[in-house]
Amino acid sequence: MSHTSAVARASSPAPPSGSHRFSSVINQIAEEMNTLDDHGTPADYIPMLADADPRRFGMAVAEPDGTVYGVGDWRQPFSTQSISKVFALALALSLDGGQLWQGVGREPSGNPFNSLVQLEYENGIPRNPFINAGALVVTDRLQVLTGDAAGQVRDLLRTESGNAAIDFVPQVAASEAAYGDRNAALAHFMASYGNITLPVPALLAAYFRQCSIEASCADLALAAGFLARGGVRADGAALLSRSQAKQVNAVMLTCGTYDAAGEFAYRVGLPGKSGVGGGIIAIVPGVCTLCVWSPGLDKRGNSVAGVSALDRFTTLTGLSVF
Ligand code: DON
Repeated sequence: MSHTSAVARASSPAPPSGSHRFSSVINQIAEEMNTLDDHGTPADYIPMLADADPRRFGMAVAEPDGTVYGVGDWRQPFSTQSISKVFALALALSLDGGQLWQGVGREPSGNPFNSLVQLEYENGIPRNPFINAGALVVTDRLQVLTGDAAGQVRDLLRTESGNAAIDFVPQVAASEAAYGDRNAALAHFMASYGNITLPVPALLAAYFRQCSIEASCADLALAAGFLARGGVRADGAALLSRSQAKQVNAVMLTCGTYDAAGEFAYRVGLPGKSGVGGGIIAIVPGVCTLCVWSPGLDKRGNSVAGVSALDRFTTLTGLSVF
């Protein structure tokens, strides 16, 4: 039997377990996920992630006022991987306005997240900021703007979640670097078109560090709260304009789950972003942010139980952007 538990972000006392708006829904979902026949397979191209237990499951809900609650392994830190790309994009947009879009598009790729094929046809301009090539462009711009792209992403996660313990996992970054030939190929190829500013090794180091950040469902649901609040951070300051928050949500909806984005929109109907660590964040604008984690992936790199849980959430609550 699963039971939700809760923490309030500020110093207000935590309400009794199970008393939140979506508590019974997520308890039901956690029980359903226990009975899935196939939980998928953890990512094995990053050896540090390969040993995760695919049956683990956590889900957190963060409401716009900073209340967060969850079920299962919702406080277990996991490797954020590509979920970090959302926060890097938000930071780059907040700092350089629209300049970023000269080097990266906003169309679904229809190809795997680490694919090389479109880049040559499209002159070194990646389709969107959430495939690896596009994320490398974003990290390149953010590194030039700030001098520490990965540190900025980590600090944004810390500030928005209230968890100062969020950090990189150097062994995961090293594990990925050791098998990083594809990302190196993407970066060198774009550099040949003049679409990368940093030396490629420096860019890859920043990108792998960014991907290695560990955070829990609770942390990520809270940290993504600005996307449910029209760009407003936890402290009330604007990270993005309302229009930019809409833009990030739109790109998440159309590109956040790679070549499965159409199926994800069909099943879940929310802006979402997955990572090969098994996490997915999803936004219900104005209502809440969700984060699910289960390390077993499908063939397209998305968490099997994660997608299924979000599908059940929007089905059971009737909430979606459609
Ligand atoms: O670039 C990579 O291969 C990883 N560090 C991130 C990939 C990832 O999470 C894609 N997600 N589904």
